[in-house]
Amino acid sequence: MFAPKKTAMKILMVATEASPFVSVGGAAQVVNHLSKALELSGNEVAVFIPKFGFISEEKYQLTALYEGLKVPTGDEQNPYLMCNIKTAEFPSKVKAYFLENQEYYEKRANVYGYSDDPTRWALLSRGVLEFIRLKIFIPDIIHCNDWHTGLVCNYLKSDYANDPVLSKIAAIYTIHNLAFQGMFDHKHVSELDYDDGKSLVAPFFDNRLKTQNFMKRGILYSDVVSTVSKSYSKEILTPEFGEGLDKLLLELKGKIFGIVNGIDYEEMNPATDSLIEKNYDINSIGTREVNKKALQKEFDLPEDSKALLLGFVGRLDNMKGVDLLLNTMEYVLRDYPIQFVQIGGGDGGLVEMLHQLKNKYPKSVGIHPYPNFTLPRLVFAGADCVVYPSRFEPCGIVQIEAMRYGAVPIVRKVGGLSDTVVDFDSGTLEGTGFVFSHFDEYALYGQIVRAYENYRNKPLWLKLQKNAMKADFSWFYSAREYVKLYEKAKSIVGKQL
Ligand code: GLC
Repeated sequence: MFAPKKTAMKILMVATEASPFVSVGGAAQVVNHLSKALELSGNEVAVFIPKFGFISEEKYQLTALYEGLKVPTGDEQNPYLMCNIKTAEFPSKVKAYFLENQEYYEKRANVYGYSDDPTRWALLSRGVLEFIRLKIFIPDIIHCNDWHTGLVCNYLKSDYANDPVLSKIAAIYTIHNLAFQGMFDHKHVSELDYDDGKSLVAPFFDNRLKTQNFMKRGILYSDVVSTVSKSYSKEILTPEFGEGLDKLLLELKGKIFGIVNGIDYEEMNPATDSLIEKNYDINSIGTREVNKKALQKEFDLPEDSKALLLGFVGRLDNMKGVDLLLNTMEYVLRDYPIQFVQIGGGDGGLVEMLHQLKNKYPKSVGIHPYPNFTLPRLVFAGADCVVYPSRFEPCGIVQIEAMRYGAVPIVRKVGGLSDTVVDFDSGTLEGTGFVFSHFDEYALYGQIVRAYENYRNKPLWLKLQKNAMKADFSWFYSAREYVKLYEKAKSIVGKQL
């Protein structure tokens, strides 16, 4: 399926996270699986991430590659930070390079959330460029991900603009979530204090670094910008979704593209998944019933096959519309034989709302308000539907994973949700889920009831499940689109030289 291309490229992906080594959000999966798909399409790909203390050197067989990499800080008193480079392989055999630094990565228990995060990510951004100068891996393309790596593009086009090796490299910058732009938060300062993005990057230990907008700089200085779905690439040009950068994005519209995320169809496979109760495929969907029972049992709910079982897997986040979902569930659970299970931690206020819902409907609601890496699979395999009424969603991966397992998504028509789920038409029997537009309880209530009524018609439901399972968001297609973007970025740099 992955026919090697003649014009193979060397790509260096740089990020703060990449599964399986470090995984906080969806971007970690994108970095891992996109790299694999690009490599299988005949390109040479490597990934560059920090070596956090919790990444086990034994488990992943890390080896030392280079000691004493001097990364310039821009600070006169303390001009360099010393780092090491370690290396290992992803399960896909893609090469991983790790930037090791005791103070900024090794000693930290978490990936994010420190007051010196701007320094930590400036170190990563400048560190990757210094690594390339070692000539161990010289890419044609450097692919940056989210605000943490926005400064790679900035350094590349300023401090390193005349470097004989680096000046030939094209930079592509992928926005996974425009809402996070750095320490800088446009909601809390007046427009006068916005970073215009034109000054040089502040030295690592200078407080000005915290007021520089890494996201904006990534957008400004990259050759090409991409977002993780087509719809989101258009939405961010409007004040509603633009997070204060819509005017700039509109100006730069010509270099902004959208490529939808995929999933790894080998890893996510109900026919082989060892984390679910009983394996099945599109020809044995009836077997899902065993998984539904197992899921109900897991959450101490009545093992009722007639109840429509809804699932929510993911961060408890305002962006995901969890408040709307829980408010709506109050009425849904009052009126219909419906059950609801949830997995994922996050916002304290939303956790509190979940507990209240569970107290009110103990026999219909199951909650697990903590991150969990195994239970989501049982939800995909056992729930009838998953529900994502997001305020905004750059792509969203869970609805694609759910479809692969035959759980029908109920989603709001926004961002990647609207690009990956097609509203079901019971006349033509086409479509993969239930899609609504307005962000309110009435719209969501209506869709859940619609799902319930369709669920009661078994042949219709089976058709819908099959449609969902057949939807193909293989990384192969998206990798092909990325290669086109890389070529575009390369030709832009070629013209500048
Ligand atoms: C971010 C976005 C999500 C996207 C993921 C991977 O977490 O919020 O929509 O799917 O990145 O690109």
